[in-house]
Amino acid sequence: MNHTEQFDRWIRGPFVAMNTELEELYFAAENRMDPTGIGDPIKAQIRDEGRALILPLLDEGKTNDGFANAFDLLGNVGFYMGALRRHELTNPDKEERSPFPEASALALHIGVSIGMVPRFATAHLATHNLAIDGKRKSFTALEDEFVFIDENTRAIISYQRAADALIRIAPLGISSPVTDVLWEDAKGALRNVIEYNRRLFDTLDTARFFFCVRPYYKPFRVGRQTFRGSNAGDFAGINELDLLLGLTRASDPYYSQLLHEKLPFMMPDEQARLRAVMSRRSLLDEWLIAAESHASQPWFRTNLRHYLEVCELFAETARQHHHQLVSRFIGQPSARLPEGSLKGITASGPPLPVMLRSLQILHDLRCAEPSELTATAHAEFARLRALAG
Ligand code: HEM
Repeated sequence: MNHTEQFDRWIRGPFVAMNTELEELYFAAENRMDPTGIGDPIKAQIRDEGRALILPLLDEGKTNDGFANAFDLLGNVGFYMGALRRHELTNPDKEERSPFPEASALALHIGVSIGMVPRFATAHLATHNLAIDGKRKSFTALEDEFVFIDENTRAIISYQRAADALIRIAPLGISSPVTDVLWEDAKGALRNVIEYNRRLFDTLDTARFFFCVRPYYKPFRVGRQTFRGSNAGDFAGINELDLLLGLTRASDPYYSQLLHEKLPFMMPDEQARLRAVMSRRSLLDEWLIAAESHASQPWFRTNLRHYLEVCELFAETARQHHHQLVSRFIGQPSARLPEGSLKGITASGPPLPVMLRSLQILHDLRCAEPSELTATAHAEFARLRALAG
């Protein structure tokens, strides 16, 4: 077994067992928010065993044995560093550089060479999480972690299916009768997202998620720099849908800044896809142009109705995320915490109210609702709805 395989075996085995043991200890403690002084020998064991496995990998300096291997190894180093952060063996607010120079060096080497952030990203846990004999990678063996990553992954794949379908409409044109297949595909995929979001909402245990799963997604330093945490939204499909449907514009400085920040958290092939979508005319613009001269054609109404239905389903997924998932699993438990313990609640790092405001903007854009925070496509949609009858 080579060094990469040895490290992977450790990440899938002892690492998970030790994190799980620590989570049970923290969860039973009086203050579930503070791991200080609990299970210290286990924490040291994670730190030392991981380091011993990373050292030979660093010596090998091997990042050239294929993208998939490099990407996978980056995920494993990232899991290790994410866990050290979770167990407070490092804290970016108290340090100027990571206390784990070897892990940092390996992560930076791979991250820079494959064009991604030098930490684990959502794809490592979701769309590119290789299962071996049914077992996918995770931080712990807790049931709620699997509920979270599995339903997330299903939702991500479904958004990606919807985006795939919409991308195929452009070469056919919005007047084509055969686009019905693609509109229906997109609707089906978004109905699936709604179903997976609902399942997540119904089955995930709030306390377990908040105290035992979420802390692994915190920001941490790699070398000198702090990298924000991963969140379930770090995939291109959702932004492809935003842009293709015309709910947001790449020329909007708020939105393009968000994309700029988010791109290196995505797989390189997704980055390329998203860039390509950024330079396309949106379906909304296609409809507005067609409305000038073709509104009375039979195809116009038929296909416009499909488009509006897709937008409504997409809006419903945004409402679920905002009013159900974020509210129940982050907002409500945070509100119950004492003042001062809110730091580091979110994956991206900004204080909770700032993060909630930026999520509200995305919600308003995706629902094309009138908004005090941003310009949305509300008026354009009102016009198209009137034309669709
Ligand atoms: C327990 C369930 C979930 C919670 C509590 C949650 C919470 C959050 C939070 C707090 C953020 C802001 C980033 C940050 O952490 O700072 C975020 C972003 C995001 N989440 Fe979720 N999320 C959940 C599930 C999902 C699922 C299932 C999806 C669908 C794939 C999803 C898609 C997104 C997207 C796309 C973003 C980036 C912002 C955006 O473009 O809307 N989330 N989420």
